[in-house]
Amino acid sequence: MSFSIGPSSAGMGPRSALDNFGNTDSKGGEVFNQKVVSRMLAYLKPHGWKMIAALILTLAESGLTLMAPYLTKIAIDDYIIPGNLDGLTNLSILIGLAYICIFFVSSGQRYLLSWVGQQVLAKLRSDLFRHLQRLHLGYHEKHITGVTVSRVINDVAEINELLSQGIITLIGDVVVLIGIIVIMLTMSPKLALFTFIVLPLMFLATWIFSRQARSAFRETRSKVAAVVGDLAEDINGIRAIQAFSREKASQERFEQVNRENRNAYINAMSLSYIFLPAIEFLGMLATVIVLWLGGYLVLENEVTLGVMVAFLNYVSRFFQPIQELSRMYTTFQSAMAGGEQVVKLLDTPVEISDKPGAIDLKVEKGKIQFKDVTFQYRSDSPIVLKNINLTIEPGKTIAVVGPTGAGKTTIASLIARFYEVTQGAIFIDDTDIRDVNQQSLRQQVRVISQEPFLFSRSIAENISYGIPDASMAQIEQAATQANAHDFISHLPEGYNTRVLEGGVNVSQGQRQLLSIARALLTDPRILILDEATANIDTVTEALIQDALARMLKGRTAIVIAHRLSTVRNADRVFVIDHGEIVEQGSHEELLAANGLYAALYERQFMD
Ligand SMILES: Nc1ncnc2c1ncn2[C@@H]1O[C@H](COP(=O)(O)OP(=O)(O)OP(=O)(O)O)[C@@H](O)[C@H]1O
Ligand SMILES: [Mg+2]
Repeated sequence: MSFSIGPSSAGMGPRSALDNFGNTDSKGGEVFNQKVVSRMLAYLKPHGWKMIAALILTLAESGLTLMAPYLTKIAIDDYIIPGNLDGLTNLSILIGLAYICIFFVSSGQRYLLSWVGQQVLAKLRSDLFRHLQRLHLGYHEKHITGVTVSRVINDVAEINELLSQGIITLIGDVVVLIGIIVIMLTMSPKLALFTFIVLPLMFLATWIFSRQARSAFRETRSKVAAVVGDLAEDINGIRAIQAFSREKASQERFEQVNRENRNAYINAMSLSYIFLPAIEFLGMLATVIVLWLGGYLVLENEVTLGVMVAFLNYVSRFFQPIQELSRMYTTFQSAMAGGEQVVKLLDTPVEISDKPGAIDLKVEKGKIQFKDVTFQYRSDSPIVLKNINLTIEPGKTIAVVGPTGAGKTTIASLIARFYEVTQGAIFIDDTDIRDVNQQSLRQQVRVISQEPFLFSRSIAENISYGIPDASMAQIEQAATQANAHDFISHLPEGYNTRVLEGGVNVSQGQRQLLSIARALLTDPRILILDEATANIDTVTEALIQDALARMLKGRTAIVIAHRLSTVRNADRVFVIDHGEIVEQGSHEELLAANGLYAALYERQFMD
């Protein structure tokens, strides 16, 4: 299977699909979302001790940071001015030690936080990946690959910033801020209050900034997802793009999302480029106030010189946490919105799940039965199969034929339970396939798909995909039975030749042979072969037929046939049209009936 978005969503580009995401996105932007926070905190739980250690280090760092300017004041007032050199030396050593402590404490804290952050990140991504693997095909068909990738990569990173750095830094900043205010008020209430004149301005600036930033940053999130979505789809469709010479159009489309993304970021960034200097300016203003008023108070002997120097020091530290807190405000918003998306994805129900106590399927005889099966891919999409009743006796091979879009591949997908029947039921050996666990079902029911998917690994690994610990001898045997051994031996590195992405270095016919080998190795009881529609040369055709004959022996098989030879060898032929069985019988009977089959035969199978 490729990454294509499926026939039903044809004409629906990544951008329109993104709108679905975008809509939910725009509901976000809260600073605090209880559900998201509690879900995400659970990820921190296993690292509780490390987080506590980081918190202690943060508090220690805050304490030391607060202490240093105060020590400077003591140095000036108690030692420099009275002229106590020994005392000054000792105190200087103490201040030096404090700074050394800050160095160690802050690097330890940073290390711990990034360590925890990366652990959480990895765990969250792996949980998302596990969940994505379990989500049924219907989900993946509806969602653009690139956008899903962006969720797992970008949104998770946003949350990480909040979880690891954010919370702890927030506590540290608040402690420093309150500490500075308290110390300043204690040292000189008058000077402190004058210095705080700038605070209302600062809060106003922060408030205006965060309101603007909220929408700006939200915009950047959906734009970056659009870029990833467009990129992924176009790279995936590069063959079509080049074949139709649409490079220019594709470039223009990309440039548009790229431009929008760039503008969104510039927009968000320029906000902070105005805001941060504004805060800095206010900080300078406060410094000037301290210098002027503080100087005056020193001259009037109302405060000591040490207090004034300490004030200058505190003021310069004061604005750092404020800047950081306002930055954090936007981090919180985008983390919450990212978190909402991640939680939503994690909570997407797995529609096709095993019933509690589902049994392992043990195929004894291999009878397959459809009872009144009606199916539609989605509740709002057309009915694809109508009232299908058919029974395949154990060990028999039936062929399913019909015009394109009739519903043949759908039948195959239903037997493997890639989708759930809408009405009716499918039985294997009289067991409803909804009552067995999916793994046991798919181990014994093997679907060789119309477009077999090859992974970009070696040929051998691709053949042994169903049984990863198969020996080389087993792999070669399966390849030999599938008539694939010959062409593989002629490849430059034989079984170790790497298949390129999308299997482009393997021809259509070879791909079929490989997938037959892959299925043969797993020795399934029931085999469904969805023949490739593409024309295959007569030599390969003969090889495939020969391999098929071997493979079908002793197995119950359904062959979705596009070739006359396959149909002829079948025990019974079912003709499907518009999701209904319109004719059935042997090849000869159907020809004699002179109905749809006869017409198809003339058009399709006769050369
Ligand atoms: N994943 C899907 N989601 C929604 N609709 C689908 C999906 N796959 C197929 N359909 C629709 O179901 C109908 C039957 O498709 P199906 O693939 O079963 O046809 P088919 O008989 O195998 O055709 P072909 O001979 O071309 O392979 C088509 O109308 C198709 O548009
Ligand atoms: Mg098909």
